[in-house]
Amino acid sequence: MDIILLGPPGAGKGTQAQRIEANHAMVQLSTGDMLRAAVKSGSDLGKQVQAVMDAGELVSDDLVSALINDRLDQLGPDAGAIFDGYPRTEAQARSLDDLLAQRGRQLDHVIELQVDEDALVDRITGRFTCARCGEGYHDRYKLPQVENTCDECGGHEFKRRPDDNEQTVRTRMAEYRAKTAPILPIYDQRGIVSRIDGMGSMDAVQAEIERILRD
Ligand code: AP5
Repeated sequence: MDIILLGPPGAGKGTQAQRIEANHAMVQLSTGDMLRAAVKSGSDLGKQVQAVMDAGELVSDDLVSALINDRLDQLGPDAGAIFDGYPRTEAQARSLDDLLAQRGRQLDHVIELQVDEDALVDRITGRFTCARCGEGYHDRYKLPQVENTCDECGGHEFKRRPDDNEQTVRTRMAEYRAKTAPILPIYDQRGIVSRIDGMGSMDAVQAEIERILRD
């Protein structure tokens, strides 16, 4: 099964993608994570995209579609893909159709997480992750059970994203409204969009997603 998780920054796409990955034979393909890995490695690609990401703008369509193409090559035929943060423009949506068709695959579900943008600023600015294993936390909604110790790997170092400040978050949201939300009608026409309330608890959102995947 191949699915897209769609929603503005902070809607919970990454959180839910990790939960789906843990329960199904599916792999999270997050273009944001891929781009951050490139920045961290100091590669030419990383240098090229860092300023764009720090400003909260979108990097080029060709570049992210090439990243997804590579990842799909590594994906076994039996593994499903969870597209997280991709596609984000109409051009990317068309590329994804081509990339999947070339491999005899097709999208089964597009799940839109519907959220209140003001609440998202709070979610994003409170977010941090374990520097060792990447487990996600939040200053108010999900703190480590033992202070300063990752629940998953026991690591003691945590990090915050440079683009998780209010000003950049507002730009990211504007980009979502202008360029990403308009791709939904493409999938509506195919009858594969499910809309769920992304403002519930993480468990409630997960339960809704599981219900959609079972149908
Ligand atoms: P990307 O990394 O994709 O960021 P984003 O879309 O802005 O999404 P986020 O990762 O911020 O949010 P999320 O929905 O995953 O929420 P999360 O689960 O973490 O992209 C970053 C940048 O890369 C872009 O700005 C762009 O420059 C570039 N880029 C990436 N892809 C691109 C593409 N395809 N084309 C062009 N450019 C691209 O949750 C957020 C917080 O809330 C967490 O702390 C979490 O614990 C908490 N939380 C989650 N769910 C709940 C809940 N139900 N209740 C309470 N708290 C919750």
